Amino acid sequence: MSEVQRPAGTVASVMTEERMFPPPAEFSARARIGSLEDYRRLYDAAKNDPEGFWGERAAALPWTTPYTKVLDWHPPAAKWFVGGRLNASAACLDRHLAAGKGEKTALVWVGEPTGERREYTYRQLHAEVCRVAAGLRKLGIKPGEVVSIYMPMTPELVIAMLACARIGAVHSVIFGGFSSEAIADRNQDAGAVAVITADGGWRRGSSLPLKKNVDIAVEKSPTVRHVVVLKRTGQAVEMVAGRDIWWHDLIEGMPTDTAPEPMDSEAPLFILYTSGSTGKPKGIKHTTAGYVLWAQTTSEWVFDLRDDDLFWCTADCGWITGHSYVTYGPLAAGASLLIYEGAPNAPHEGRFWEIIEAEKPTIFYTAPTAIRSFMKWGMEHIEGRDLSSLRLLGTVGEGINPEAWIWYHEVIGGKRCPIVDTWWQTETGGIMMSPLPGCTPTKPGSCTLPLPGVVPEIVDAAGAPVTPGHGGWLVMTQPWPGMLRGIWGDDERFVETYWSKVPGKYLAGDNARQDKDGYYWIMGRIDDVLNVAGHRLSTIEIESALVSHPSVAEAAAVGRPHDVKGEAVAVFVTLRGGVPTDGLKDALRKHVRQQIGALAAPDDIHFAATLPKTRSGKIMRRLLRDIAAGRETVGDTTTLEDYTVLATLRGNDE
Ligand code: WTA
Repeated sequence: MSEVQRPAGTVASVMTEERMFPPPAEFSARARIGSLEDYRRLYDAAKNDPEGFWGERAAALPWTTPYTKVLDWHPPAAKWFVGGRLNASAACLDRHLAAGKGEKTALVWVGEPTGERREYTYRQLHAEVCRVAAGLRKLGIKPGEVVSIYMPMTPELVIAMLACARIGAVHSVIFGGFSSEAIADRNQDAGAVAVITADGGWRRGSSLPLKKNVDIAVEKSPTVRHVVVLKRTGQAVEMVAGRDIWWHDLIEGMPTDTAPEPMDSEAPLFILYTSGSTGKPKGIKHTTAGYVLWAQTTSEWVFDLRDDDLFWCTADCGWITGHSYVTYGPLAAGASLLIYEGAPNAPHEGRFWEIIEAEKPTIFYTAPTAIRSFMKWGMEHIEGRDLSSLRLLGTVGEGINPEAWIWYHEVIGGKRCPIVDTWWQTETGGIMMSPLPGCTPTKPGSCTLPLPGVVPEIVDAAGAPVTPGHGGWLVMTQPWPGMLRGIWGDDERFVETYWSKVPGKYLAGDNARQDKDGYYWIMGRIDDVLNVAGHRLSTIEIESALVSHPSVAEAAAVGRPHDVKGEAVAVFVTLRGGVPTDGLKDALRKHVRQQIGALAAPDDIHFAATLPKTRSGKIMRRLLRDIAAGRETVGDTTTLEDYTVLATLRGNDE
C-alpha cells in the first residue's frame, strides 16, 4: 500500500478526531433532506435502481428530444440519457424564464476595485448569453468545435461559457494564472478554433497581461482562427487585424433571443485540463445531460438551495468548482449567485467579510487553504463584521484540518452554520461525498458519507476490499451521471489511469479509510500529484519545466507540508555545470512560471550534486520528501549537497 502523502499533519490528528456536530434542529426542519432516514431512502433507491432514480430526476430537464434509455454502461464507457437532446445553457437560463423567474437575480458580481458591482436577472443574463452566442456563430464557430476561455472572474466569463454551450461549442477554460506556454499546450491538444480573453485582469491591484499571454500562445496554436477580447482593465493591447475582435464589437446589434443548439445528451460540453502523474495535463471531458443533472442535483442536495438563498462559491471558473458550483449547478437550479473577481486580501485582508456584510450571502463555499489564510491574517479583520446572513458553510479542494474546521465553525459560522466538507474531483463532475447539511452529523476532517448515486469502496492493490478502519485506494463501483467520459484525444490514457489498476472500477487516485460509523476520511493522493493551495499540480510537469532550462541537468519535485497552502513545492536540482546562486534560483522560479504558471513556482530550491536514486535509477522521492520537510526551518540551501550520502545513511528504502 502506498504511504500517505498528504502532509499538514492531518492524518494523525484526523485519526483521533472524535467530535461530532449534529445539524441544528431548525436547519433540519427546513432542509430538503431533513433526516438520515430520508437520506438512506434516497441512497438505497439510487443504488438499487439507478435508471429509475435518475430517470425521475432528469424529467425536469428541458429536453427537445426525449431520451430512449437512461443508462448504457459498458465499463468504462457510460452513456446517460441515450438519444436525448437538450441544451445546457437552456437548462441554466431559458427554463427559468419559461417558469416565470426571469426577474429573479441570477448573478451579483463584485469587482476587485472597490465600488465595482453589477447585477443580472435571469432575463438579463439570458440576453447577454444570447448576444455572445450569436456573435460566436457569426464568426463561424460550429457545434463540436473547441473554444478556449482565458478570462478574469467577471460575469463575462460565465457568459462566455454559457454562450459556447448555447451554440454547441465545447469550452476549455484555462485559469488566468496559467502561462502562455500552458495556453498554447491546451490550445494545441484541444484543437481550439478560438480564444476568448480580456485585455487584462485585476489581481491585488495590479493587472495581469491576459491578452499578451494569448498573443504569444496563439503564435503556437495553428488551429486558432479568432481571438475575442473583453475590455476589462483598459490597458493597451495589440489587436491583430482579421483575427482579433473586441467583445463589445462582437455583440453589437446581436439578437437577445438566439436559439439554443439542441445537443445530444452525450455531446461534449467542456474540457477542463487537470494535472495527472505525467508531464502532460489531461483534458477531462464532460458531456451535456448527465453533467448538468449531476451539477444541479448535487447543488440542491449539498447546499440545500432555496429560492431566497444567495450562494457564494469563491472558486474561479478556471477550476472545476467554478464550472459546477458557480456556473452550471446553481444556475440550473435557478439560484442566485454571488461572485467576486479578485483576491481575498485586496485591497485589505477583510475583503471577504466586507463583501458578506454588504451582499448578505446565505451560503459560503471556499477552500481550506483560504480558511488557513484567514486564520493567519487575524481576528481584527473579522471582528465587528456582520456575518449573520450566513446559514451554511462549505469546503472543497483538499482535506480540512480539524483546527481550521473548528475555527470556520466558530468564527465564520457563529456556531450556527453546518459545514459541508465536499470531496470530489475534476473527473467526477460534481460532489461525491459530503454531509447533507440538514441530516448528517459532521466530524471535523471527514467528508462523511457518499451522496445518493455514489457507491464507493476502499480496496487494496489487488482490488480486494480492505478491512474496515484500514486505509486503501478509493474506487467507485457504479457509474454516476456526472462522471468524466474520457480524456480528450487519449482513450488509452483514460483506461490506463482510471480503469485498469482495479478493473471495471473507477480509481479516484486518493487513499481513504472508513471509520466505525462508515464515515470516509480522505488520506491523500496515491500518485505524484501535489495539492498546493487546493490546486492540483503534477510533480512531473514541474520537473519537465525545470529540465527545459539550459542550466538544469536533472530535477525532482516533491511536496512538503505548508501551514497555509497545505503543500508547498520543493525541488531538487542538479546542474549541467556552473555554480548554484540565488540568481539562478530566481531564474528557475521565473522559468517555471513561464512554462506552467505562478502557482507551480517552487517554494524551495535545493541544489544537489546528484539525486538519490535506487539501483534501478528511480529517484528516491520518499527520502527527498523527508529532506524537504526537515529543512523547512533552515530555508533554502544554496550550496551543492550530496544527497547520495544521506541516501546511503538511510538505506535504499524506495
Ligand atoms: C483533493 C477539486 C480531501 C483530492 C474539486 C482529490 C479533497 C483532488 C477534497 C481533486 C476534500 C478535493 N477532502 N481531499 N473535501 N476535495 N480533494 O480535481 O485529493 O482540483 O482527488 O477537484 O483534491 O482535485 P480537483
